Order: sequence, then structure tokens, then C-alpha cells
Amino acid sequence: MFEFSDNLKKLPPYLFAAIDDKKAELTEKGKKFLDLSVGDPDIPAPERVVKALSKSAQIKSNQKYASNAGKVQMRQAIKKWMKERFKVSLDQTSEILPVLGTKEAIAHLPIGIVNRGDYILIPSPGYPGYRSTAVLAGARIYQMPLLEKNGFLPDFGKVPDSVKKRAKIIYLNYPNNPTTVEAPLSFMEEAVKFCRKNNILLVWDNAYSEIYFNKKPLSILQVKGAKEVALELHSFSKTFCMTGFRIGWVCGNKEVVKVLAKVKSNVDSGIFRAVQDAAIEALSKESGYVAGLRKIFLQRRKILLESLKQAGFKDLYAEATFYIWAKIPPQFKSSFDFSKYLIEKEGIVATPGVGFGKYGEGFIRFALTVDEKKLKGIFKKTF
Ligand SMILES: Cc1ncc(COP(=O)(O)O)c(C=O)c1O
Repeated sequence: MFEFSDNLKKLPPYLFAAIDDKKAELTEKGKKFLDLSVGDPDIPAPERVVKALSKSAQIKSNQKYASNAGKVQMRQAIKKWMKERFKVSLDQTSEILPVLGTKEAIAHLPIGIVNRGDYILIPSPGYPGYRSTAVLAGARIYQMPLLEKNGFLPDFGKVPDSVKKRAKIIYLNYPNNPTTVEAPLSFMEEAVKFCRKNNILLVWDNAYSEIYFNKKPLSILQVKGAKEVALELHSFSKTFCMTGFRIGWVCGNKEVVKVLAKVKSNVDSGIFRAVQDAAIEALSKESGYVAGLRKIFLQRRKILLESLKQAGFKDLYAEATFYIWAKIPPQFKSSFDFSKYLIEKEGIVATPGVGFGKYGEGFIRFALTVDEKKLKGIFKKTF
């Protein structure tokens, strides 16, 4: 009956739908399965954060529209955290903007930046939100391959001149979902240089900055000259297991912060003040929660890596984040086939690499989002 938009029609097929159907089918049949596909930790948010939310929600004035700029105390708490964690100085009024989760910022940013025919450069494999929101904004997509042989870092030298000329945004995400790797400072410097030279907005997605085991991840804003071209994304979802709260922030280049604020003032009406109070509590009274979280993931990672090695998996990546990125056994044709096999024969749900873009083919992602007891010796067969 209705004719829908061309951009909508261009959205990539929702590969995860087949996995969701399979999960639904198994549930209907009463079959048990281990779900390692979702990036949503099973661990509750800090108790004091939930208390702050509930206390604040009872205050009548907090139940009204919130300002788009976010509470002053919220921006202050972010400023202080960025200074303490990364030694990055930010102006809380012009260089910080709270958002309804980083996904929301990713969706709204291109609307204020790209025109038809402009390119957005996305990592492949990469978080699927970069691609779909770029398509919805009418941008052209250039996929930067993250290859194993390059340490899952893109090669800027391979971006064609014709793409560089019309490139408006480049997304980079380290610690990386799904490959788990961190970026060295030298790469971050190279990225800033590339974006300054080509006038491209560098969006550095730091959603997993606190989920590390060895090296503490950096902020792109630590790189000299980064504020000229970069916007960094942060999320409460992974750091404080607050995925359902829907809150994060962007910080960096003030012109871009202003543009995003303008777009947002036309599409949403601020973040529920009680959620902001919960986030302020999370940031300002960090009392070992995140360190405890890292310990839990470290233990799960150890157990799942053992299970995978016992089952014969060879190339495994688990540097940071709460994922393991594994090469599929050679006898399987595709990551999708292997994920189907895992569901049907092993009762394990994992995400096929191709779901993150074509260069994710040949890999599968396991999320460490279930209790360690469930991760021991999970494979019946060796591959
Ligand atoms: C790399 C990356 N960026 C952004 C997001 C979105 O997070 P948020 O809950 O802050 O919207 C995710 C969620 O999985 C992610 O993996």
C-alpha cells in the first residue's frame, strides 16, 4: 500500500534475523541453548546507580522535559572523568554533549554532516550501526577492510582519491567490536593526520574503553591536534552494564558537538533527568565496580578460550572488550553456515562474522556475557 523510502530499501539485509528465528524455534521446542551472541552483559548495573535513578525519578520536576544540553552536573562529571582517566581537558559547555546512547549519536550525526553523494568510511568488520545509519542518511559507504594481517587496523593508503575527495566521516572503534584489538598510539596519530589532511570528521568510538585486560586504551583526544577533526563517543552501556538506561556522551570538536546538538534538538527532548542522575552517580563515585567487571570478564575469557582451544579452534583474538573473535574451522564454507551448525548441533548461539560486514567473513564472535560456569567445555565435538 505504501511506497517506502529508497534509503530504507538500501538497508543491508538483517542477517541476525535468521539467528533470531532459529533461537525462537528452539525456545518453542523447549530446547536449551547457550546464547553467546548478544553484547549485553548479564551483570547488573551498580546498585548505587539504580538507587540514584529511583530516588531521582520520584522528584516531580525531574519527570518533565529535560534540557537538550544535559544537566550541568552531568557535563561536569564527564569533564572530570575524562581528565582523570585520559588527562584530556574539555570545555563542559562547548565540547561535551550527553546523548541517548552512542547508537543514537551515530544515527543522528550524519544527518547534520553529509549530503547525497558524500562518503562515510566504515570499518569492515564493524559495529553494524555505522553502516545502517549512514545508508538512512543517504550517504555512500566505503568499507575499510580490517584484515588479520594488518592487526585489524585499516590501511588509509588504500582509500581511493575519489572517495577521499567526498569523504565526510570516518568511523574507527578501538578497543574493537568485533575483533577485540586495541589501537596503538602510532595508528591513532596516523588517523588524525589522515583526517586533518583530507578534511574528514574522525568519529572515534570508545564504547569499550574500560573493558581491557592488559593495556589501558587511549582516547583519540590525547593525540595532538585531534580536537580539530575528532569526536569521541563514550557509553555507560558497557562500562557500567547500563545498556537499558540509554545514556552516553560525545566530546571533542566543538563545531561538530554544536551540529549534533542542533540535530538532536529537533528530534529528541533531552535525557530523562533521573537517568542523568544515575549516570552522574556512576561516573563520580566509581568505587571499583569497573575493576570488578574486568575481573569477571577476564575469568570468563580464560575459560572460554580453554573451551575453544580444546575444541580445536586455532586463531583466537581476545585482547580487550567482552568478545572473542575466532576463525571458523576450515571445513565450513562460511561464518553463517558455521553459526547454523553451532546452533543446531552444539546448542551454542554465536554471531557470524559476515554480520559485521563482508571482511568479517571467515570469523565468528562469541560474547562473554554469561556466567563462567556455563562456559566450561561447551563443545561436544572437536573441529
Ligand atoms: C562499537 C559499539 N559502538 C556503539 C554501540 C552502541 O552502544 P550504546 O548502548 O551506547 O548505544 C555498541 C553496542 O554494542 C558497540 O559495540
